Amino acid sequence: MIAVSEILEKQVLSRQDIIRLLSITDKGDQELLIKKAYSIKESTIGRKVYLRGLIEFSNYCRKDCYYCGIRSGNNKVTRYSLSDEEILRVVELAQKKQLTGIVLQSGELNSEDFIKRITALITKIKSATDPEFRITLSLGEQSLETYQRWFNAGAQRYLLRIETSSEELYRKIHPDNELHSFNVRLRCLEYIQKAGYMAGTGVMIGLPFQTIENLADDLLFIKERDFDMVGMGPYLEHADTPLYNHKDLLMPVTERFNLSIRMIAVLRIMMPDINIASTTALQSIVPSGREAGLKAGANVVMPNLTPLKYRRSYLLYDNKPCIDKEADDCLECLERRIKMIGEEIAYNDYGDSIHFINRILIK
Ligand code: 5AD
Ligand code: FES
Repeated sequence: MIAVSEILEKQVLSRQDIIRLLSITDKGDQELLIKKAYSIKESTIGRKVYLRGLIEFSNYCRKDCYYCGIRSGNNKVTRYSLSDEEILRVVELAQKKQLTGIVLQSGELNSEDFIKRITALITKIKSATDPEFRITLSLGEQSLETYQRWFNAGAQRYLLRIETSSEELYRKIHPDNELHSFNVRLRCLEYIQKAGYMAGTGVMIGLPFQTIENLADDLLFIKERDFDMVGMGPYLEHADTPLYNHKDLLMPVTERFNLSIRMIAVLRIMMPDINIASTTALQSIVPSGREAGLKAGANVVMPNLTPLKYRRSYLLYDNKPCIDKEADDCLECLERRIKMIGEEIAYNDYGDSIHFINRILIK
């Protein structure tokens, strides 16, 4: 078998190489992989971490994904939606804390009312912030026209995870109907790129039925489709979801954690100039999980700024961290943690994906 150190010398990783790196079991080999990924991150981006304030502004959702705690079929969830005023207060806090952008996330809705509301909200946020303030949307599948409308209103970035690039696996983790179509998902990702956004995607790691080959193909998918940003994290079960029935198939959480860290590291090696988020799901397995993600090549963290009273209603999975914390506490805690690993928060830096900037320049 080819040595990990030898693979890490290569300029381009083959599918076989990726599979080999994701399958590492030796601690020393994992260390080598992480070191290599971090050195690439350090030389392309620096010892910097970009922060985006996350606002989970509503948990109403028309979808029924088998893994997600806020799926429409879960009637144990108290549904909520923040008012524009509440959202604007969070935006104000983000600016006071020198954050250069926010992420608006919610369950998926696509009514005309919702589309109009978001358009108006983007306009309001734009007029309450400096012109460069970045708005990232994470609002699911929409029509090209809607993506375009929100882009024209002033949103610059969009996140839509493919969840898995295997159509077969996609079908296993979603209901079999038009609302949950793999091809629509793919098309939406194309629309997002076409509309001009800095485009982000990602996958869940350690899903039931998922193989290492699936994950290698996920990384190749992300590279082939030229995404600018990626957020990936371990799959974590939620007791009130259908996928919970398959929890016996899951690998132990620590393995899911380590595999997620290797996914981040391999992706950084494959795509040196993109933005990679170190996700909250990592933090739910290990309290210092996000720091571990940063040490493996991630460069973005999204502190949760959702007002405390709503946090318990946005549980995508069990054991979500920080559900009893106000935004201020999370920010302070994060600052401390980032300093501890010798990295620095890039305040007042928009932290656009270098990959995106290069892509635009080439066009
Ligand atoms: N475990 C991990 N991640 C999840 N997400 C949703 N449910 C879960 C879960 N049970 C992720 C999905 C989605 C993002 C907002 O949260 O990848 O795109
Ligand atoms: Fe919430 Fe540390 S990030 S308390």
